[in-house]
Amino acid sequence: MGEAKLEAWLEETRTFQPSAAFVAQANAHAAIYEEADHDPERWWRAQANRLVWHKEPTKILEWESPFAKWFADGTLNASVNCVDRHVEAGNGDKVAYHWIGDGEGERRTITYAELLCLVSQAANALTELGVKEGDRVAVYMPMIPEAVVAMLAIVRLGAMHSVIFGGFSADALASRILDSGCTFVITADGAFRRGAASPLKPAVDEALESCPDVRAVLVVKRTAGEIEWVPTRDHWWHEIVDRQSSTHEAKFFEAEHPLFLMYTSGTTAKPKGIFHTTAGYLTQAAATYYYVLDVKAEKDVCWTAADIGWITGHSYIVYGPLINGATQILYEGLPDSGGKDRWWKIIEEYGVSILYTAPTTIRMLMKWGDELPAGHDLSSLRLLGSVGEPINPEAWIWFYETIGASRCPIIDTWWQTETGSMMVSPLPGVAAAKPGAAMRGMPGISVDVVNEAGQSVANGEGGYLVITKPWPAMTRGIYGDPSRFQSTYWDRFPGKYFAGDGAKRDKDGDIWLLGRIDDVMNISGHRLSTTEVEHALVGHPAVAEAAVVGASDDTTGQAIVAFVTLKFVKDDHEQNHAEIIEELRQHVAKVISPIARPRQIILTPDLPKTRSGKIMRRLLQDVAESRSLGDVTTLTDPLVVNMIAGLMESSSNED
Ligand code: PRX
Repeated sequence: MGEAKLEAWLEETRTFQPSAAFVAQANAHAAIYEEADHDPERWWRAQANRLVWHKEPTKILEWESPFAKWFADGTLNASVNCVDRHVEAGNGDKVAYHWIGDGEGERRTITYAELLCLVSQAANALTELGVKEGDRVAVYMPMIPEAVVAMLAIVRLGAMHSVIFGGFSADALASRILDSGCTFVITADGAFRRGAASPLKPAVDEALESCPDVRAVLVVKRTAGEIEWVPTRDHWWHEIVDRQSSTHEAKFFEAEHPLFLMYTSGTTAKPKGIFHTTAGYLTQAAATYYYVLDVKAEKDVCWTAADIGWITGHSYIVYGPLINGATQILYEGLPDSGGKDRWWKIIEEYGVSILYTAPTTIRMLMKWGDELPAGHDLSSLRLLGSVGEPINPEAWIWFYETIGASRCPIIDTWWQTETGSMMVSPLPGVAAAKPGAAMRGMPGISVDVVNEAGQSVANGEGGYLVITKPWPAMTRGIYGDPSRFQSTYWDRFPGKYFAGDGAKRDKDGDIWLLGRIDDVMNISGHRLSTTEVEHALVGHPAVAEAAVVGASDDTTGQAIVAFVTLKFVKDDHEQNHAEIIEELRQHVAKVISPIARPRQIILTPDLPKTRSGKIMRRLLQDVAESRSLGDVTTLTDPLVVNMIAGLMESSSNED
């Protein structure tokens, strides 16, 4: 939404108060803000009691900017916290996951006791394969229960997982495996998407051609397809895991023991391995799940509709919910697998009460029409949540009225891979919500909106979102590159963590996120850097130069538009153009992932540059979003940009 439109919206914004019935049962109360403000460290120490400790910590925070240690002298095991504790407490029969496959008939229900058996067997199998404390294990899997089991088994042994979204290409997989020095990979032969099997293992085989240190690959059989097999390296899950003992005695590790890596895009071509450790991360994941998603483990059925390949899946499908002993939906399919009302069917059938998802999906469901949700009983829902990108008021209102029947509070949660857990969000039952606003920092989290000089802005003004005090789930750095952590996040506003997002305080002081102010794009809630896509494009032999921008898009939030100059142009202009554009789009999909495939590629003889030779991306963004162009006098050749605008208008290469 444009600045002017946002102004107008703010002027007339309605606030939505939770109902008295919701307030009466809410986990969070206004008093927790005061308690946390009064002494944030003490408050977090109290939250750490949500974990089961082998040795209780006596320390809380040790801070040597930009590196934090939380609860450093405590010891614990992450997997025991997620699983064993519930069985020991007599809740083994409680359902941990209702797994629903892509196809209508496929279901599995897994109790906490069953999960403990599966995790123990997998931990024993990994031990047999040679996985030990400190190893890095790549997980490249569809949304099947074995993915969760694999993650929990890895951390149970004190190894780290690096889960790589199943949509990434072989090249992207290889670069992540190499950067983190993974020596094991867990994958599946394939996955199902809208009823069709799509292979996964071939990408692993291709990636591993350039990863000689990977010693073993554990493969879950998910489809009936034939796959290539390397007998000295590959092992079927059902052959090695199923025959293991279903008990496993866990060791305990220090609070700061490495837990996982999650690769994410920054402003450079190379994705960063965001590094998280154990106790601080688990504490905040558990506390936010309890207060923000308001889970009542004894009765809720929770559905975080995200992929475990992203941080949302880690914190709110795996660690946060399991620590709380919640019952969840784990859904393998796409929103329209088996029909466009599949989500509503699932909610009705399982009595889902808490639904947490991304604005892109909400907008897509909205486009499919109101009659689909209207055909199902959604009265079990009591809380709705949004994450990953700014939610536009139209989508918010639709979610609120049509899906939540104006009964369910909506939490708009702002956070990042780096923050590990939710940071800015209304607390349901405490604060009113405004459509499109993330409202205020969570209890125990200090956020601010500052100007260029790093000073807090007044109400009604915009600036940059910063975090001013360390928090438990904060990343402990970029894997293998400590100085990049300082320079990327801490140098711009000394002493403050700069998230990369623009934000605004409205007249009441509530926070609205305005999107990234750097070269990071947000495509359907997936984070990609413009440089990464440019790098992929110039890697194609025909490309001389490329400039990529994220243009606003009604459904996907942003979409990739690339401006490309070619090294050579053949005579047969028109046809050649169409072919090369398609080839370039496929090339980007192959190098990064289909999610990075540009919506549009504009072939142009030149790119607009300043006299010092810098590509004027902002101007290209104006062109891509069909805005009138501002001052172009600093360009070497002002005509170039008008020519590109003309080319843009006549281009229509989209999916
Ligand atoms: O720009 C912000 C946007 O997503 C970025 C973080 O992306 P990622 O690390 O992939 O994590 C996404 C899931 C937590 C942020 O820098 N973002 C995330 N949540 C919101 C958001 N933008 C606006 N509103 C949100 N609620």
